[in-house]
Amino acid sequence: MPETFITIAIDGGAASGKSTTSLALAEKLKLMHVDTGSHYRALTLILLTNHIPLDETNVKIALKKTVLETTLDGNRALIAVDGKTLPAQALRSEAVNQHVSHVAAMPTVRQYLYAYQRGQCDIARSLDFAGIVMEGRDIGSVILPDADLRIFLEADESTRVARRAAEGHADAIATRDKIDSTRKTAPLTCPEGALRINTGHHSLEEVLNQILTAVKNF
Ligand code: CDP
Repeated sequence: MPETFITIAIDGGAASGKSTTSLALAEKLKLMHVDTGSHYRALTLILLTNHIPLDETNVKIALKKTVLETTLDGNRALIAVDGKTLPAQALRSEAVNQHVSHVAAMPTVRQYLYAYQRGQCDIARSLDFAGIVMEGRDIGSVILPDADLRIFLEADESTRVARRAAEGHADAIATRDKIDSTRKTAPLTCPEGALRINTGHHSLEEVLNQILTAVKNF
């Protein structure tokens, strides 16, 4: 087991550059990478596939019968629902984009994922990673409030819309951000003490260098 274990929380709105930055950072520092957005996406996909009405009562009943596990692809931790990992393309489908923020706003869903997400640190430790990079909306504020490093990424809406369009995804970014920022439970917010970086004003290399400097100074 590694002697020191670093926890890095990366939060930000839709298409703010979280995944690109977190993956590159995890790769460089050989840390385990966890994309918590994919957890909400996976549950949304399963609920939609099973035609579960998206209200607290029905979702709660469905989640009681759902088993979550973690599999590893290189240094990426992937969620497995009822023994299956789900294809990235399905997780980022238009239907999931449309419903995921509604599902993620349900206290039942957030409570259900809380222990699973916090448990990712133990998994990373048991697999001998020197730390974890976890990305999402509430990582520095709720899931890992004691993270060694908190990063908040942002960019203008026009920049973020252009990024999604370039990826060929239909995604109402502004709508998702509004639901994510105004929900009662664990809203999207810049955590206290976070290093705030505008990814529209800096290249990926510059963003990484800023974070690596913060890691060195930690
Ligand atoms: O990739 P993008 O930033 O567009 O979204 P994502 O990280 O895949 O997250 C999809 C959705 O999951 C978000 O719009 C939130 O509604 C929800 N989410 C959340 O509520 N809390 C997190 N820690 C991560 C994602």
